Amino acid sequence: MEAVAGIGCGSASASAAWRIGTGRSRAVGGAGGRGRVRVRVRAAGSSGSDVVEFEQVQGEKVRWAGDDPLAKFVSGLIAIKPLFSLLQTGAKNVMVRTAEKSGIPWKEMVEEMQASDVYAELKTLENPALVYPDYYIQPFHGYNTGNLSWEAAFDCEPATRALWKRTFPALDSWKEAGELSRGNWADAIDSHHASFSGGLPVGDVVDLGCSTANSSRFLADRFPTAQVTGLDLSPYFLAVAQRQEKDAMRKKPIRFVHANAECTGLPSKSFDVVSIAYVLHECPQSASRKILREAHRLLKPMGTLAITDQSPKSKAIQKLHPALWILMKSTEPWLDEFYRLDLEAELQECGFTNYRSVLTNPRHFTATATAAM
Ligand SMILES: C[S@@+](CC[C@H](N)C(=O)[O-])C[C@H]1O[C@@H](n2cnc3c(N)ncnc32)[C@H](O)[C@@H]1O
Repeated sequence: MEAVAGIGCGSASASAAWRIGTGRSRAVGGAGGRGRVRVRVRAAGSSGSDVVEFEQVQGEKVRWAGDDPLAKFVSGLIAIKPLFSLLQTGAKNVMVRTAEKSGIPWKEMVEEMQASDVYAELKTLENPALVYPDYYIQPFHGYNTGNLSWEAAFDCEPATRALWKRTFPALDSWKEAGELSRGNWADAIDSHHASFSGGLPVGDVVDLGCSTANSSRFLADRFPTAQVTGLDLSPYFLAVAQRQEKDAMRKKPIRFVHANAECTGLPSKSFDVVSIAYVLHECPQSASRKILREAHRLLKPMGTLAITDQSPKSKAIQKLHPALWILMKSTEPWLDEFYRLDLEAELQECGFTNYRSVLTNPRHFTATATAAM
């Protein structure tokens, strides 16, 4: 169990109400930045026993990613081609098996998509003139053609559910875990925007690297009067997203754009909120820097940027079982670069202010910042 304690809430609806804002964070352990911060999440109005805790560890680092000699050794092993292929197949099989055991009907979900009319969406979305960056056309996540395939696109939704379940293993279902994580993330955006954006209403939101729009749908639900735009490099992912959005019958349907987040072609200063959810750990640092600069260009003055991703300070991430992180590293080629990125410094460089960062679930942080006036 990943630093999750004292779960006393049986029902999905009660636990879905848990939010970071209703609990307290308190520092425990040593001083001088080397202590631990315990994030306590509690159901509103519940007794003290309904608490989920997760820890942010300061002054320690993830040994299997970044510059650590162990990280370099593992990366060297993974670079051996036959071992790499074996690990990739292994990683996918483990994911599917574990997901099915926890009630996520992975194979059924894929078959349903395969039988749908999703294929017609591709033509309406794809930008044939788009030039893919080199890092995007390499094997990735165990797929030889990376994100540029139907196979990868159909796996997205069950893989996202599996991620939520892994993130909060003590919660009963992926749905509860997802709602809690996304709820904390959206709360962090809301609270940052309310504190620093001088009353700027949230009218336009762009979700850079939206994949099949799991994050965009959550943003559209949280900001129902806003026009949400989901942007991604994979036309296959966007086709699945658009297929699902047609069934949602939303008042303001999410619109989808097939583009590179490094240079979107969208108008400058046109968004109140820019979201980058779980994208940067999939990018080399050079691409991440360009995406952050582009996010600043897209935001209106005093608009809010929100980045959520793996936290190097998460106790759960630091304590991952070696077998798991070797599998993870074998499908995530840019993880070392991501763990070396100093996000706060990069954002300052782009002109962002009011940097805040908080763990929004046991493994992931949400960083928010304000675009300069
Ligand atoms: C893990 S998925 C993000 C999932 C989604 N935001 C969520 O929270 O559920 C990462 C996405 O980033 C996209 N991506 C990576 N580099 C990109 C780039 N330069 N421009 C646009 N999308 C990119 C990938 O295609 C992929 O869909």
